[in-house]
Amino acid sequence: MTGKPSFWARRVLPVLVEKGCRSRVILQERLRWIPRAHGDVVELGVGTGLNLAFYDANRVSRVTGVDPSPPLLAQAGVRAARAPVEVELVEAPAEQLPFDAEAFERARWASSGACSGRAAS
Ligand SMILES: C[S@@+](CC[C@H](N)C(=O)[O-])C[C@H]1O[C@@H](n2cnc3c(N)ncnc32)[C@H](O)[C@@H]1O
Repeated sequence: MTGKPSFWARRVLPVLVEKGCRSRVILQERLRWIPRAHGDVVELGVGTGLNLAFYDANRVSRVTGVDPSPPLLAQAGVRAARAPVEVELVEAPAEQLPFDAEAFERARWASSGACSGRAAS
């Protein structure tokens, strides 16, 4: 992202993502899918990092969390520090990954379209 993020991006979006993605239904999906990920994982649209606590350290060697929003990544950084696995956060849109996506294994979207994680399966 170039320039200073807008008021919307800094103050409104993080609140919306936190509130909108913490429903019981979404939590159930996180608990169902995220522990199944394994290997070197790329999570596209990592947001505030709400999935990070649910990766299984016995299965996942590292998570690369990608998101174009610096304010969301700042919140994800707090969760990354507490995560059970090594996490690298990358500021980028999924369409312009600054690394070789082929380095990751087969991938799938790990949760709903609204709250999407992409993980090696
Ligand atoms: C509804 S939030 C879900 C966040 C997180 N996956 C979760 O489950 O809590 C959608 C996320 O997708 C991100 N996003 C939007 N466009 C994107 C793009 N082109 N590439 C990667 N992420 C994108 C947003 O910044 C936001 O963090």
